[in-house]
Amino acid sequence: MKYTKIIGTGGFLPEKILTNRDLEQMVETTDEWITERTGIKKRHIVAAGQTTCDLAEQAARRAIESAGISPGDIDLIICATTTPDRIFPSTACLLQARLDIHGIPAFDVQAVCTGFVYALSIADKFIRTHAATCALVIGAETLSRIVDWNNRATCVLFGDGAGAVILKASDAPGILSTHLHADGAYKDLLTVPAGISENPGLLQQGKAFIAMQGNEVFKVAVNSLSRIVDETLEANQLQQSDIDWLVPHQANIRIIMATAKKLKMDMDHVVVTVQDHGNTSAASIPLALDQAVRDGRIQRDEILLLEAFGGGFTWGSALIRY
Ligand code: ACO
Repeated sequence: MKYTKIIGTGGFLPEKILTNRDLEQMVETTDEWITERTGIKKRHIVAAGQTTCDLAEQAARRAIESAGISPGDIDLIICATTTPDRIFPSTACLLQARLDIHGIPAFDVQAVCTGFVYALSIADKFIRTHAATCALVIGAETLSRIVDWNNRATCVLFGDGAGAVILKASDAPGILSTHLHADGAYKDLLTVPAGISENPGLLQQGKAFIAMQGNEVFKVAVNSLSRIVDETLEANQLQQSDIDWLVPHQANIRIIMATAKKLKMDMDHVVVTVQDHGNTSAASIPLALDQAVRDGRIQRDEILLLEAFGGGFTWGSALIRY
């Protein structure tokens, strides 16, 4: 058993939908501006009292069902989130209790929009080193809680949701390679500049909001993703044409199109869901993956390239034989 295979996927979006037209009533913006600059048409927003763990639980249960396993088969839980329910315990532990699983390791990973790729990479290493045999990996976010709904530069971009996969040890190839990077020198270009030990007052006043230099983020994201595509192909000695599906982090259609162009890939082979839920950070890749698996686009044995970029800056990729 030297490989890690994805054997199930699940996704969940909260019921409430906020359209671009709704946002026109809240800030000075237009559907046309948002659509043209980002590709986003709507996003899902949690109800009062609904938490990241609530979303993660629904996505996890759907992934468990699609994998045909029971919660008791899982021996590792990793949750990627930037918006955990509590400071502690981790959202992974809260989810573990909901699933009535006891004693196995469960922890959160914080790499913002790259969180799911980081979590997938860690779980793959657990499985390859025989420290786990069946892992639940989740990306779940309630970004609406850290969005300033009066700031048109950021509030149009983000949404809430959760996506999950079940990974299993396998003799046949699954995850072929993962590539993780970070550069904290860019810490101030995309940040919530408040927390428990820095500017705790902002948190207490409910003013811990996403701050972003959109133009700069855009440029570094496109360059970093272009480089990581080369790195991933080279590591596996593959050509651009060997990739069947690009499953990118869903932040902005223009960033996605730039990466597809780099791969000389027709947009028909890029999974795009950003129009339906905006940027859901760590949840966006597993949400997109789940959708394309369930609607039959992604088939067994195809080669998938997952890639993400986010706050930190962090960026990463995973090459998978599905
Ligand atoms: N509606 C209307 N006008 C707006 C809005 C809005 N919602 N937001 C900003 N504007 C205005 C600005 O004020 C500015 O006006 P000015 O020229 O009078 O000063 C004008 O539009 C252009 O602003 P820019 O910021 O230069 O617009 P840009 O073309 O860069 O698009 C955007 C902004 C969409 C944020 C883009 O920079 C982007 O997508 N950046 C990447 C950010 C991102 O994806 N962050 C998510 C996390 S990182 C990740 O997940 C990859």
